[in-house]
Amino acid sequence: MSSPTETRASTALRQAQGSEAAGTTPAVHVAGLDREFRSKQGSVTALSGVDLDVAPGEFVSLIGPSGCGKSTLLRLVGDLDQPTAGTLEVFGKSARQARLDQDYGIAFQQAGLLPWRTVAKNIELPLALHKVGKAERAARVSELVELIGLGEFADSYPDQLSGGMQQRVAIARALAERPRLLLMDEPFGALDEMTRERMQNELARISAETGAAVVFVTHSIPEAVFLSDRVVVMSPRPGRIVQVVPVRLPGEARDDSVREDRAFFDAVAAVREALHGAPPPVARGVENR
Ligand SMILES: Nc1ncnc2c1ncn2[C@@H]1O[C@H](COP(=O)(O)OP(=O)(O)OP(=O)(O)O)[C@@H](O)[C@H]1O
Ligand SMILES: [Mg+2]
Repeated sequence: MSSPTETRASTALRQAQGSEAAGTTPAVHVAGLDREFRSKQGSVTALSGVDLDVAPGEFVSLIGPSGCGKSTLLRLVGDLDQPTAGTLEVFGKSARQARLDQDYGIAFQQAGLLPWRTVAKNIELPLALHKVGKAERAARVSELVELIGLGEFADSYPDQLSGGMQQRVAIARALAERPRLLLMDEPFGALDEMTRERMQNELARISAETGAAVVFVTHSIPEAVFLSDRVVVMSPRPGRIVQVVPVRLPGEARDDSVREDRAFFDAVAAVREALHGAPPPVARGVENR
């Protein structure tokens, strides 16, 4: 497995949190991880022998056909489920301890906002639950609404926002407690293509600015490539990692210009080959623009 040496995210992390931050303890350490679901109908091996390390500040996407265990892996990392066998550590701790230490921010496919609370109150919720003081809460919320570009909508309710705006609020809420690890399961799956690309740009900027490690599940190859330092390609029955594709794109920032870059197309082709086991039967590059 390639080591993420000088990723854009780890650079941001060092800037944000000092030089010790790029230290040796991975954000996520998974070794020989199995998850078997047993029921009266039989058993399903959702994950088998999964090994994966995610560095602090690194952005890693999981991609693969339906049922290959992406959500299962994310849920195990997030302490929402328990493995059948294997090792799983988050910042060198058990997943449970990481959850108690509020190391996680979690955002899934549906934004999951509370409709009776305003944007600001939704973002504030985890802080309020953990008894953060009022002044500190207010300061953090105003910082976050600016970060997601919704300063003018702080007092709006979720049903007054578009789907993309709601997703941004959900991301802000996930970031409220400055998590060192963000877990995202197809957060942009329900968005139209244009909004989705805008959200990807936002997330790239936000993850670079906060220095959080991200484990991101998606079905979109370009989305995975655009956002990630590495793309983990999985296959089903049993769910396992078939390949890890490192993404090296030019420049520090991931913005729209990256989507036109040769290196971007090459990485997309590499992930597609890993997914399908062979190059697509079309002339290279023709359909990419
Ligand atoms: N709680 C559960 N009980 C029984 N089987 C489960 C459970 N959760 C997941 N599975 C099975 O584990 C396998 C992996 O499921 P998982 O949800 O992780 O797939 P996925 O890669 O996220 O798929 P998708 O892309 O469709 O979201 C599937 O065969 C699924 O049926
Ligand atoms: Mg899933």
